[in-house]
Amino acid sequence: MTSLSPLRIVQLTDMHLFADERQQLLGVPTTESFQTVLDQVMRLQIPPDLLLLTGDLSQDGKAESYKLLQRMLAPLNISAYWLPGNHDRLPAMEQNLTSGVMSAQKSFQAGGWHFLLLNSQLEGCVHGYLSSDTLDWLDHQLQTVGPMPTVIGLHHPPFLVGSDWLDSSTLQNPDDLFSVLDRHPQVKLVLFGHVHQEFSLSRRGVQFLGSPSTCIQFEPQSSDFSLDRASPGFRILHLYPDESWWTTVERVSYRSTLDLAATGY
Ligand SMILES: [Fe+2]
Repeated sequence: MTSLSPLRIVQLTDMHLFADERQQLLGVPTTESFQTVLDQVMRLQIPPDLLLLTGDLSQDGKAESYKLLQRMLAPLNISAYWLPGNHDRLPAMEQNLTSGVMSAQKSFQAGGWHFLLLNSQLEGCVHGYLSSDTLDWLDHQLQTVGPMPTVIGLHHPPFLVGSDWLDSSTLQNPDDLFSVLDRHPQVKLVLFGHVHQEFSLSRRGVQFLGSPSTCIQFEPQSSDFSLDRASPGFRILHLYPDESWWTTVERVSYRSTLDLAATGY
């Protein structure tokens, strides 16, 4: 039996970095917690082939926060692909995340897999929406590239996750996404952020995966906003050329003084 080596992906999401690297989000210095995550990624026995950054890379959307991200990722020397979340400012991303290890490409191939990154950001809103232009682009990409196994990334989950407060800000038009996916069975995985917790659900042969944030975590199944004491984390995906895959979620040892009385962020 031959065992072909997989493509190894690390998904990093919801870093919520600030221009001022000492600034905290509800008690968590987001630069420090992200650095702890990066240290663990650098200690992996086999380094990942690429990084996927699935939105809310910045909390304040300032150019300096994206420059900070660039500086933090540079020592890893691994290509990093990104998409925007509701907290991000796309113009600042496009200006600051296109050089060095950062790639602004939204359609690319690696290890026999095709990757498509979507913008589900609706300016000024916390919830997500896929425009008809984005959906047409997705459909066209899937049609053009054909049967190569495909991973799609977007920030907002196309499912409710069982928390009333979070469920008001998921993707508002999931059925439009599903109708594209249903036409293209080569799509195997859909990765998202936003929910700051691990999530997994299968629909018609596609696995939908949510990942922990590299800073604060939200308490699963909580109807009101509530922080979870779980540690920051990230997801590793192993993608094989024969279309099989497996994934794990890693957590880091990191503790900070959470603002547990917070009612929002
Ligand atoms: Fe977030």
